[in-house]
Amino acid sequence: MKSSAATLGLALALGLMPGGAKAAPAADPGARLWLQCRACHSLKAGEPNKIGPNLHGIIGAKAGSRPGFRYSPAMAASEITWTDAALDAWLTKPMAMVKGSSMAFAGMPAADDRKNLIAYLKRETR
Ligand code: HEC
Repeated sequence: MKSSAATLGLALALGLMPGGAKAAPAADPGARLWLQCRACHSLKAGEPNKIGPNLHGIIGAKAGSRPGFRYSPAMAASEITWTDAALDAWLTKPMAMVKGSSMAFAGMPAADDRKNLIAYLKRETR
């Protein structure tokens, strides 16, 4: 009894998170990890850039190529292509991969987390 009430409370709290148009399904770890990114990035075609660029179509794209976004000179000159491996390195420690990047994110140390997040990005940025 007690635990199901707690579960319901948690579900309600998740559903009411600020900025959440729809609550992330708790079963998808990638969706949960995306919460660390979404203050700065949008995912879908036509959504505006935020503090960071819109990520629609980012898989396989050249770094620094989102229209209308003002990149750091370091990112603009990086010549990175966003493959799985490049995204994995980037998410591990952005500042180490692109010195001088303006992305204020320390990094995601767990390899499993990065894998789940990249799988989520592949689905959601198509
Ligand atoms: C505090 C804001 C912020 C957070 C949090 C953040 N980013 Fe970024 N992101 C940026 C900015 C700003 C840039 C552009 C960096 C530059 O120009 O050096 C960027 C760039 C990127 C790029 C390269 C885009 C391109 O067009 O080349 C990717 C991919 C990316 N972020 C993914 C993520 C993911 C995934 C997360 C969550 C783990 C995340 N970011 C968290 C602000 C953020």
